[in-house]
Amino acid sequence: MKILVTGGAGYIGSHTVIELVKAGHEAVILDNFSNSRPEVLKRLEKITGTAIRCYEADIRDREALEKVFSANSFDCCIHFAGLKAVGESVIKPWEYYDNNIGGTLVLLDVMRKHSCKNIIFSSSATVYGNPTTVPISEECPKGKCTNPYGQTKSMLEEILTDLHTADIKTNNPNCWNIVLLRYFNPIGAHKSGLIGEDPKGIPNNLMPYITQVAVGKLACLTVFGDDYDTPDGTGIRDYIHVVDLAKGHVKALSAIEKKCGVAVYNLGTGTGYSVLDIVHAFEKANSVTIPYKIGPRRPGDIAVCYSNPEKAARELGWVAENTIVDMCRDSWNWQKNNPDGF
Ligand code: NAD
Ligand code: UD1
Repeated sequence: MKILVTGGAGYIGSHTVIELVKAGHEAVILDNFSNSRPEVLKRLEKITGTAIRCYEADIRDREALEKVFSANSFDCCIHFAGLKAVGESVIKPWEYYDNNIGGTLVLLDVMRKHSCKNIIFSSSATVYGNPTTVPISEECPKGKCTNPYGQTKSMLEEILTDLHTADIKTNNPNCWNIVLLRYFNPIGAHKSGLIGEDPKGIPNNLMPYITQVAVGKLACLTVFGDDYDTPDGTGIRDYIHVVDLAKGHVKALSAIEKKCGVAVYNLGTGTGYSVLDIVHAFEKANSVTIPYKIGPRRPGDIAVCYSNPEKAARELGWVAENTIVDMCRDSWNWQKNNPDGF
């Protein structure tokens, strides 16, 4: 298939481009490089042995999108482009609604005009809010998102679903096919160490913070709270290797091919690890020491979040394969080879 990958120069998008090419698909990237660098393209070429076509464009730029869709006939769009920093979204809500919702509306409009109505959307476990039970399956009700970033994911899921519903109601023979992928906590990097997560400024997320402590850029990790109702008191999450996550997108194309309507899948491992589990796993896997101190809880954090990934296994034949040791080793391999990112 010929696939438009919006945000394909970013962390998850770049890993997905590799898996798409490996599976024999043609991937075309569209990115405005607001949170990534063109250098990624050279690295992708090195890993895949193929030149990857990339348009530098913003998804809010209708004219640019028109040109891209006029020059290419896409079978599907995998839509990663968007802003993703939870804390920043609280301070800059307009920018988040404009970029994530405004941008996606423009993209969807251009897609339908060009009769490309197949889309795989990057959603997040954040749409479940504070879950009442774990593991979280797709049937669990969506929860209240406490920040604009989470709201954009939840709203876009509704918007996409409404487009499909309208097609059904009007007997449109060319219906939208939509896969909503709810990611849990992606970490790790490509085995080559050539691409990985490259956050700007001080990382918000746990693993990039740990790797920057390990490489000496940051002095000490603060563990956000040790008084949660968990075995060691620290928060539990479902960490998933980014390459497994990327492969989930390739598998999701099979749902699109089967004209799935709207299909929702959790992409997680089904296993939860605490913050201290991750610190100790990282230390053991890489023979390094991570100095840490216990700090207060981070506002908005929940105690426990991990997936039931059985639906993706059953319907897509997708199962995460990498262990926590692989995730820690590959995160460190990327960081130590690229102490200053790309
Ligand atoms: P990322 O920031 O590394 O990648 C996003 C890419 O989109 C970047 O290359 C950025 O330059 C580009 N982009 C942003 N706004 C754009 C615009 N208006 N036009 C064109 N390009 C634009 O983020 P990521 O971690 O790879 O996440 C990819 C997607 O997955 C995002 O939608 C994110 O919200 C979602 N997601 C990420 C996580 C995570 O932990 N990383 C978890 C759940 C969901
Ligand atoms: C965060 C976002 C979530 C988003 C996800 C992926 C928040 C509140 N949630 O999830 O919406 O979908 O990233 O981008 O930001 N931790 C520390 N010290 C640190 C950093 C993190 O102890 O310096 C702890 C956190 O309290 C949490 C765990 O590590 O228990 C994971 O945190 P993080 O990597 O930020 O992911 P989430 O909070 O799960």
